[in-house]
Amino acid sequence: MEQHIYLAAGCFWGAEHFFKQMDGVLSTEVGFANGHTDNPTYQQVYTDTTGYAETVHICFDPLRISLLFLLQMYFKAIDPTSLNQQGEDRGTRYRTGIYYTNPDDLPFIRHAMALEAARHSKPLQVEVEPLAVFYRAEDYHQNYLDVNPDGYCHLPVALFDYAREARDLETLQKAEKYRLVLNQLRALLEGETDPTACMANAAALLHDTFRFWWTGFYRVVEGELLLGPFQGPVACMHIAFGKGVCGSAWKEARTLLVPDVEQFPGHIACSAASRSEIVVPLRRGTDIVAVLDIDSQHLAHFDHADRHFLEEVAALLP
Ligand code: SME
Repeated sequence: MEQHIYLAAGCFWGAEHFFKQMDGVLSTEVGFANGHTDNPTYQQVYTDTTGYAETVHICFDPLRISLLFLLQMYFKAIDPTSLNQQGEDRGTRYRTGIYYTNPDDLPFIRHAMALEAARHSKPLQVEVEPLAVFYRAEDYHQNYLDVNPDGYCHLPVALFDYAREARDLETLQKAEKYRLVLNQLRALLEGETDPTACMANAAALLHDTFRFWWTGFYRVVEGELLLGPFQGPVACMHIAFGKGVCGSAWKEARTLLVPDVEQFPGHIACSAASRSEIVVPLRRGTDIVAVLDIDSQHLAHFDHADRHFLEEVAALLP
């Protein structure tokens, strides 16, 4: 599984070297992001008139490292309150920026920014924008510090050791738990064809393992969603097509990740304690027959890893 993010962190030589050390980072490349000229060269970007930021394109495995963890590491490698300057490097090409290609990533980026902002008295100067354009830099800039170990770098060597040792334990443990749940579920459901019985045990197993706030199913019955087996506090019984997160996941026929329920227009609050939610459609052939709905008391609790594993859970149910 792969996820992509583009991070501007000052001079891209050191920044790439920092990110490529991390467990779960699959590949990196350096280049120029979000400027306004075609095919910029390093020399042109260096004039600081092209609008480009030196940027690292990071490809990572969300089952080993979450975007949130990666961004928390990013903040350790920059001064996020400094505008157009990192270390001694000055200019708009050295600005800091988080450029995303998947709009679903934006709430997680905002969450990471809010956590970081709370650690500083000055405002953050990190730009958050969709990636408009990215050009790979000339080959001699790629893996620069591997090829030139004594080359210029604005980052301290200790930071690279820190990145090499860093593990996103939360994500690694979560993935491990899901793998156990999937094995248990395969054994439990073997030979069982009754959908309600299978949903009941799936809800119990997930809820018991992860201690979510609410874990359960809504079934498609007579053109609406009707409450099915669940664990947790009492919940609303009927949800119309296209309504709330559940009805929207049904209508859009895709998993919906809601890092902050208050930001989801039309969210149905069965409980005021729920802060984030994930809804995964269950299919029989091409039809959606139910949705798996999970709520958490914590913001941004569910991410791409949860989506991956919960879609596997959904695929096991009859
Ligand atoms: N929040 C859901 C409603 C179901 S409860 O979370 C159990 C929604 O907006 O569809």
